[in-house]
Amino acid sequence: MKIIVTSTASTRQEPSLQAFLSECRWDFVPRQGRSIHKLRTLYQADAVVVWEPSGPVLYVEDEKFFFHPSMAKNRLGLYRKKGIQDLMVRVCEIQPGDRILDCTLGLGADAIVAAYFAKTDVVGLESAIPLARVVKWGMKMYSTPFPWLEEAIKRICVIPRDHQSYLAECPGDSFDIVYFDPMFQHPLLKSQPLNPLRKLADHRPLTEDSIEQACRVARKKVVLKERSDSLEFERLGFQKIVRGSNKLIAYGTIDVNPPGSRG
Ligand SMILES: C[S@@+](CC[C@H](N)C(=O)[O-])C[C@H]1O[C@@H](n2cnc3c(N)ncnc32)[C@H](O)[C@@H]1O
Repeated sequence: MKIIVTSTASTRQEPSLQAFLSECRWDFVPRQGRSIHKLRTLYQADAVVVWEPSGPVLYVEDEKFFFHPSMAKNRLGLYRKKGIQDLMVRVCEIQPGDRILDCTLGLGADAIVAAYFAKTDVVGLESAIPLARVVKWGMKMYSTPFPWLEEAIKRICVIPRDHQSYLAECPGDSFDIVYFDPMFQHPLLKSQPLNPLRKLADHRPLTEDSIEQACRVARKKVVLKERSDSLEFERLGFQKIVRGSNKLIAYGTIDVNPPGSRG
């Protein structure tokens, strides 16, 4: 995928843009008042990143993609205002200090919620490299009047990598919880906020090898989010399934070291 980077008139000289360019090694082209469409055609690019004051915005086909924590903010807001516990947090049994590896970062909503409760850094892996970079820098540059949200976002360490090779390199027991939320093979129509992500995302199904490695790397639990009716739970060896109240999604868990089995 050929990606070019441009700026707005006000962000042309920003040091953050220079740092982004030297990390990504995508070509910079001056904006000179030209439209995204014109730049894309002129430079024969598949996508254009515009460096906005609030972070990178990726334009691909007719969609625009940028980091925003809206889902995480809603979920944490429900907990903070009404004490409603998040189902993912309940299923993962996240405790303060837990080391969490999110193997499918996406927009990072689950990782932010996890970081809020774990009160420590969360590692997020994303194999779709343009998506990983936009989310990484979007998180870096995000600011909000809510310190609890900003703290959780800044705890995410985004690594643009495939989880299969990353897991293979991790020592045993190096995380407490390893979490997977892969792209559904048959998407739910209602998940509108994920739509721009769909174009950029890695749609490959999880491999049995990844789950085997995850069980070696996790000290407590491996968790998989999927459609309630998915056959992936069975294929990948998840026994305990917890369904969401909307009955559409479910979480499967593998307890790696169930109580009583620890030596
Ligand atoms: C459904 S989204 C995750 C949404 C995320 N849980 C959230 O809260 O925003 C799945 C993400 O996993 C990524 N992905 C798929 N296979 C992967 C792999 N092998 N390694 C790393 N990331 C992967 C996809 O590119 C996609 O961005």
